[in-house]
Amino acid sequence: MTINQPILHSLYETITSVAKEAAVAAGAVARKGFIEASPETLQTEQKAGFFDIVTACDKAAERAACDIIWSRLPQSRILGEESGWQGEGETTWIIDPIDGTSNFASGLPFFCVSIAAYYAGEPVCGIVYDPMREELFMASDGRLMLNGDVVSPFARANSDRHVELLSNAPYEGERPDLAALEAYADLVTSFRAVRRLGSCALHLAYVAVGRVAVSYESKFSAWDIAAGVQLVAAASGQIIAQDAKGQRIEANEQALGAVKRLVVAQAGFDYQSSCLSKLMADGRL
Ligand code: IPD
Ligand code: CA
Ligand code: CA
Repeated sequence: MTINQPILHSLYETITSVAKEAAVAAGAVARKGFIEASPETLQTEQKAGFFDIVTACDKAAERAACDIIWSRLPQSRILGEESGWQGEGETTWIIDPIDGTSNFASGLPFFCVSIAAYYAGEPVCGIVYDPMREELFMASDGRLMLNGDVVSPFARANSDRHVELLSNAPYEGERPDLAALEAYADLVTSFRAVRRLGSCALHLAYVAVGRVAVSYESKFSAWDIAAGVQLVAAASGQIIAQDAKGQRIEANEQALGAVKRLVVAQAGFDYQSSCLSKLMADGRL
């Protein structure tokens, strides 16, 4: 079915407004859960191991987001971290209800809700919402916004020596081998600082709005990066995504699950001269 431009535009607006509502609803659940946290309310469980946990709040936040989406746009298919795929329809949603659960469960106020929406395979909006700072980062209609204001990031600096790198490497729960340790040594001796903040989606949002010049992530899932790559794209930032074989691929809806390594950087950052580009090209990260 083809759909004419004004109808498509109004559908995109509806999807974006539902996405915002869903992100704020999930964020409210997460914020309340964080402020009122106790062992009884958190009910922390392990997923893949001691380094990968889920709390009752993750599940409740995802339910809150899904309830809004089902009630407003029932013809949706949703991939939620905690519930997997549900529903059918041309609008696809990819949701991480709390990105940064380890921070959340330990009492560190650095976590977010991440929601990306697509229509007929095209990105419609990406939202990363930090309910503790009440910061809503949004990409829609080719624009990057923070709490409704268009953001025009300025370049911090363009080389490793003068910028910070955000990264989740080396990954939790996995003993890095010698090659991975050496790669990490290259990172810490090349960049002014390497920071591991504990939320992949916020790492990407921070690069998009220009708080940090570059981020490198590995061992993530589609819901960790779906909204963040839309934010970086809306900022005209650089997105370097590789599959498991080290081939460069697009981080679009169809290929998100195949992305295994991801560098995002501000537009002006000199990626080719960065130690990251060499490590990525050699498959050493
Ligand atoms: C995790 C965070 C973390 C990253 C992990 C993710 P979760 O997500 O984004 O920074 O290193 O790869 O799984 O479990 O808190 O939603
Ligand atoms: Ca996550
Ligand atoms: Ca999560």
